Amino acid sequence: MTTPERSPVTLRHLRAMKARHEPISMLTAYDASLARLIDEAGVECVLVGDSLGMVIQGRETTLPVTLDEMIYHAQAVARGLRRAFLIVDMPFMSYATAETALHNAARLMKEGGAHMVKLEGGAPQSDSVRRLAEQGIPVCAHLGLQPQSVHKLGGYRVQGRQDEDAERLLGDALTLEAAGADMLILECVPASLAARVRERLSIPVIGIGAGPDCDGQVLVLYDVLGISFSGRPRFSRDFMPESGGSLRGAIQAYVRAVREKSFPTAGESF
Ligand code: KIV
Repeated sequence: MTTPERSPVTLRHLRAMKARHEPISMLTAYDASLARLIDEAGVECVLVGDSLGMVIQGRETTLPVTLDEMIYHAQAVARGLRRAFLIVDMPFMSYATAETALHNAARLMKEGGAHMVKLEGGAPQSDSVRRLAEQGIPVCAHLGLQPQSVHKLGGYRVQGRQDEDAERLLGDALTLEAAGADMLILECVPASLAARVRERLSIPVIGIGAGPDCDGQVLVLYDVLGISFSGRPRFSRDFMPESGGSLRGAIQAYVRAVREKSFPTAGESF
């Protein structure tokens, strides 16, 4: 059975897409108008990422983004959506304990209109993930390059290249799934490692800089539209040239490329 084109995307749809090996497309959005364009292009999941700290607010990192700012942008995006599944990032330090995570995730759901919240981190986050899952809050975990830990990581660099790091990441992914995570984003990891994680997990694994063998792909909208002051990362693609400069066309081209698995190429992977 295929997803009827306009019925709202749910976690059940996303799990069924994984089972059918049908690639899931995800894009970030921060406002209602572009969220509507993305929704109309057939993107399954929209992420209000804390990347908004960098691409909207012009900051150096995502660390200063506040929960109130996330709620403000989530509300705008939610108003633009008709079909897509809405995921909202929990900003830095908004989930440092399980109780803080529960309080703040509830705000993102009640005030922001989120269908799912996303948080960065491995096994140490499993208490928070379990607490949210127990309360019926869907959680997307985020492993690999975790931008909120940029100062600890010493920069935005590929993660999991060494065997020991790769095994730790796989262990973290299994722990988070067991704690109740419903989805996993893998950022900047070798394609071979992402393929192993995707194989071992029953929840959808969405990659960004994680190669073609994930259950789906996510990119920052502004990279897809070729708007980037600090240089577009190697793992993303500017879809504007092939769309003749149309915003709608670029977003549609991204969705097509994810569905046809022509994105990412080996050159766009690690
Ligand atoms: O904040 C964000 O946009 C993200 C994506 C890059 C996955 O976390």
